Amino acid sequence: MRLFVVFLLSCIARASVTVYSQVPLAKPTISVGADGNYTGAAAYDPAVLQAPPVPTGLPTQFNIQLAAQSSAVNGLSIPQSGAFMGFSIEFSVISYVCELAQRSYLTPSHSKYLQVPFLNLMALIRDRAGEVRIRIGGNSQETASLVDSLDDGKMIEKHEVILNDTTQTPSLVYTSEVFYTMGNISSLVNARWWLGIPLNDTSNLRLGIAEVGEQVLSPNNYLLGFQVGNEPDLYADHGNRPSGYGPQNYTNEVGIVIDAIDNDSQIQFRNNLVVPSISTTWSQQSVWDTGLVSTYDSEIGYLAVEYYPDNNCYAQYGIGSPRVPQDVFSDYLNHTSGQLIVASYLNSTAYAQQMGKPFLMFETNTASCGGFPGVSHSFGASLWALDYGMQMAYGNFSGALLHVGGQGVYYNPFTPPPGNLSGLAQWTIGSVFYSALVMAETLGHTGSAQVVDLNANNGSIYTPAYAIYENGAPARVLLLNYVTDPSGASDVSVAISTGGSVPSSMMVKYLVAPSVAEKFNITWAGQTFGGFFESDGRLQGAPSPSTAQCDTNANTCTVRVPAPGAALVFLNSGSAQQDALPTATQTYPTTAATKVLNTVTIDPSALATSNGGSEKNRQLASTSHGELNGGVVRRTVGWGIMLTGLGAGAWAVFWW
Ligand SMILES: *[C@@H]1O[C@H](CO)[C@@H](O)[C@H](O)[C@H]1NC(C)=O
Ligand SMILES: *[C@@H]1O[C@H](CO)[C@@H](O)[C@H](O)[C@H]1NC(C)=O
Ligand SMILES: *[C@@H]1O[C@H](CO)[C@@H](O)[C@H](O)[C@H]1NC(C)=O
Ligand SMILES: *[C@@H]1O[C@H](CO)[C@@H](O)[C@H](O)[C@H]1NC(C)=O
Ligand SMILES: *[C@@H]1O[C@H](CO)[C@@H](O)[C@H](O)[C@H]1NC(C)=O
Ligand SMILES: *[C@@H]1O[C@H](CO)[C@@H](O)[C@H](O)[C@H]1NC(C)=O
Ligand SMILES: *[C@@H]1O[C@H](CO)[C@@H](O)[C@H](O)[C@H]1NC(C)=O
Ligand SMILES: *[C@@H]1O[C@H](CO)[C@@H](O)[C@H](O)[C@H]1NC(C)=O
Ligand SMILES: *[C@@H]1O[C@H](CO)[C@@H](O)[C@H](O)[C@H]1NC(C)=O
Ligand SMILES: *[C@@H]1O[C@H](CO)[C@@H](O)[C@H](O)[C@H]1NC(C)=O
Ligand SMILES: *[C@@H]1O[C@H](CO)[C@@H](O)[C@H](O)[C@H]1NC(C)=O
Ligand SMILES: *[C@@H]1O[C@H](CO)[C@@H](O)[C@H](O)[C@H]1NC(C)=O
Repeated sequence: MRLFVVFLLSCIARASVTVYSQVPLAKPTISVGADGNYTGAAAYDPAVLQAPPVPTGLPTQFNIQLAAQSSAVNGLSIPQSGAFMGFSIEFSVISYVCELAQRSYLTPSHSKYLQVPFLNLMALIRDRAGEVRIRIGGNSQETASLVDSLDDGKMIEKHEVILNDTTQTPSLVYTSEVFYTMGNISSLVNARWWLGIPLNDTSNLRLGIAEVGEQVLSPNNYLLGFQVGNEPDLYADHGNRPSGYGPQNYTNEVGIVIDAIDNDSQIQFRNNLVVPSISTTWSQQSVWDTGLVSTYDSEIGYLAVEYYPDNNCYAQYGIGSPRVPQDVFSDYLNHTSGQLIVASYLNSTAYAQQMGKPFLMFETNTASCGGFPGVSHSFGASLWALDYGMQMAYGNFSGALLHVGGQGVYYNPFTPPPGNLSGLAQWTIGSVFYSALVMAETLGHTGSAQVVDLNANNGSIYTPAYAIYENGAPARVLLLNYVTDPSGASDVSVAISTGGSVPSSMMVKYLVAPSVAEKFNITWAGQTFGGFFESDGRLQGAPSPSTAQCDTNANTCTVRVPAPGAALVFLNSGSAQQDALPTATQTYPTTAATKVLNTVTIDPSALATSNGGSEKNRQLASTSHGELNGGVVRRTVGWGIMLTGLGAGAWAVFWW
């Protein structure tokens, strides 16, 4: 059994794009029960909903008049990075997302692999934003322990459920190989990481993650920081702390961690902790009122929260109240959603600025308990996450991380095939990955992007628009249209003026699909990741940006926005415009991968993961451990990579 995956490391020109390639494979069929209903994993649920009806009275022509200087613009955001939108990956599932295959079905050699599609996806963000930000953590970070080694050179292993914890999170043991793996990923795609310090037991702190994580990742600046406590406002509910555990108790525990770090000669950094990462059980103000931020100012690097606008816990686990996907769909299909969410954090983002801390949405997605069938993987969700992300940028957040669950959730930005198809089938790219991609391009790589919500079209909730200023001048405009109307009657026509003379034309890139309900036929400037099991992480097809004609007498450029769709308008012609864009993806020669079908299986529940308050979801994540498939494969992994060469134009070869 052998597979060659070859890719080229390109360190040549700044505009060049590194491509990682892999050629599998099989395409699983969709499982359908006797009644014709879908019976497979949520990640591949084929449900397609109805787009909401066309709203009446939508004005379809409007103007956008930009000021030529940012100094004349009210309410511009703080400067934003193109890497604003990143990813949150549960600690217990990193191997699934990042490694190529379960180690145990490999030969006895300790060869280890990185997931090529994952590298490709991250490279797409890196190419546009300069870097990609990933948080590894979640519930499973709280009980994780660093050990010297594991059997068979494994990198991570799940142990028994912690009895007191009603979330039933399995405890993790892992080796420093985890950090080296991250380091290797970073060296390929400039990923930068947040990790989490375990907080299950403040009288027996385990700071190994900070000691070794820092030692491995900080020399190349790949380390962003360490989260202290994941949703501490749910600790008492989950049985991890006695009832009555409140904001002051949390602040005291942060103090304990800081004292221990101060006392730890193996930890050099003192300014990179992430707090308080609450959901909505405690008010934000009640945490700030404890003096957390001022007391530990020099140790705190980031303020963070975690939020999902809805939940699907009833359908999944009988918790909470029922939700009908078709009924909630329209909640995601207008500008109000992002505005309402962000409004509840504006006091805190202002406070964060006052305290000199970036404010992060550390974990978010369409809905907790896995999201909604038909909604979370729809083109409507692409538009929603893009609008919501831009609204957070406008509201002075400094970043937002889309959560990645396993096979059991509907909302993944990307889903590797089930474990027994690892390396055989292609990946499935979720609709919200397009949001991260477009957002990276919208904010660009200068780090100076400032965002303003234009309150366009007389404040219509269906056609929001944002302007992006760079280095003081308007650079790009993002236009959205949430309406689905195949007749074309709801396409909008937007006349943009930039407060100065306009070029003869402007480049426009479209994010489009036939309907907000669409799940597969989504394109960004003509390129797509395809449907279920159709992606190796690269955009497919030729990039085909469009052109908007300008009237150089009236100094306006008119851009059509299809219903539904989004349009990114590049206001500057010439070099500035080229500079802002990655070049077309080059395709490097790749080897074919051949692999014999094998009998290895992995329990998909291994991949279910926490996502903002689902207790049963977490129970699921822990119901099976130990040996699978007649003892052939353990739900444990080991990985890393083998590199035969590095540097400009060098080859890297993975094999077993
Ligand atoms: C099959 O799907 C339909 C429509 O969603 C639903 O009403 C029905 O209860 C489902 N059948 C089963 C056995 O789940
Ligand atoms: C905390 O987690 C560690 C490692 O999983 C475990 O050994 C310990 O018992 C836990 N402590 C508490 C109080 O749950
Ligand atoms: C955990 O369980 C043990 C034994 O069941 C109990 O004595 C202890 O108080 C519990 N701890 C918490 C934090 O609930
Ligand atoms: C890549 O992984 C190897 C093997 O674990 C390790 O020795 C090396 O330091 C890693 N590289 C980086 C940049 O972390
Ligand atoms: C919270 O802190 C208060 C005051 O320090 C203390 O009295 C109380 O026992 C703590 N409660 C919990 C649940 O830790
Ligand atoms: C700091 O370290 C010293 C020596 O190892 C130890 O005695 C002391 O308890 C530690 N203090 C804290 C706050 O961890
Ligand atoms: C717009 O979205 C909000 C928030 O999600 C929702 O409450 C509202 O019903 C939606 N409006 C329409 C007309 O669908
Ligand atoms: C924001 O702060 C203002 C003034 O302190 C207060 O009146 C308002 O209730 C706060 N809003 C939220 C959402 O906390
Ligand atoms: C964001 O921060 C900028 C700079 O402090 C401020 O002018 C602007 O009003 C803030 N925006 C919001 C929505 O609070
Ligand atoms: C993978 O597992 C699924 C579910 O157990 C099974 O239906 C399928 O045949 C397996 N595929 C392979 C290639 O083993
Ligand atoms: C803008 O919207 C308001 C309220 O929805 C409406 O009364 C007004 O006529 C609209 N103005 C224009 C120019 O369409
Ligand atoms: C995909 O969607 C576009 C509109 O976004 C449409 O023109 C095209 O026909 C669709 N292709 C397929 C195969 O449905």
